[in-house]
Amino acid sequence: MKIFIDTANLNEIKEANAMGLLDGVTTNPSLVAKEGKEFRQLLDEIHKNIVVKVPLIKEGLKAVKTFTAEGIKTNVTLCFSASQAVLAAKAGASYISPFVGRLDDISADGMELISQIVQIYNNYAFNTEVLVASVRHPLHFVDACLIGADVCTIPFKVIESLFNHPLTDIGLQKFLADHKKSAK
Ligand code: E4P
Repeated sequence: MKIFIDTANLNEIKEANAMGLLDGVTTNPSLVAKEGKEFRQLLDEIHKNIVVKVPLIKEGLKAVKTFTAEGIKTNVTLCFSASQAVLAAKAGASYISPFVGRLDDISADGMELISQIVQIYNNYAFNTEVLVASVRHPLHFVDACLIGADVCTIPFKVIESLFNHPLTDIGLQKFLADHKKSAK
C-alpha cells in the first residue's frame, strides 16, 4: 500500500515526509487555491516527478492515450463508476482515482466501487494502479488496504489520526509512571 498525501500545503508535505511514510503527493485546483500561490510555481515547489492529472471525460481519455504513447504518466481523476475505471485502464492510465468520500456523501458506497475496480483490473491484468481518493477517515484507509488497492491519498489530518489509539495513550502513561518508580 502506497501512502500519498492529498494537499497543496508545503508544510504538511514536509511534516508527513518526516514521518517516513510518504510515497507521493496528490493535489488539485481546489487545494492549490487555498494556498494563495501561483499554480505553476506551487507545483514546481511540490514535485520533481509530475504525474499529469486528467479528468474522466472523453477528451481526457484521448489525452491519456497521447500522453501514454509519449511515456508521460497520468492520473485519471473524478472517477465515480466501474465502467469509467475500465475505460481509463484501456486508455493506458497510470493511476485511476475513484473518489470514495464524495460517493459516501450522496449515500452511495465508495468502498464498494474500490472492490469492483480492483476485481475488474485483476480479472484483466490491467497495469493501472487503483488510487483511493477523497479519503475522509481512518476506516477508508483500512478498507482500502483490506481490498488491496495500490495507493491511498490521504489529507494531513487523517494521516495524523492513523497514529492514534486511546489505549496506546493510556498504556504509555502507565509505563512512564511505572518507569519513574524504578528509575534513579
Ligand atoms: C484526489 O486526488 C483529490 O485531490 C481528492 O482526494 C479529492 O477529495 P475531496 O472529495 O475531499 O475534495
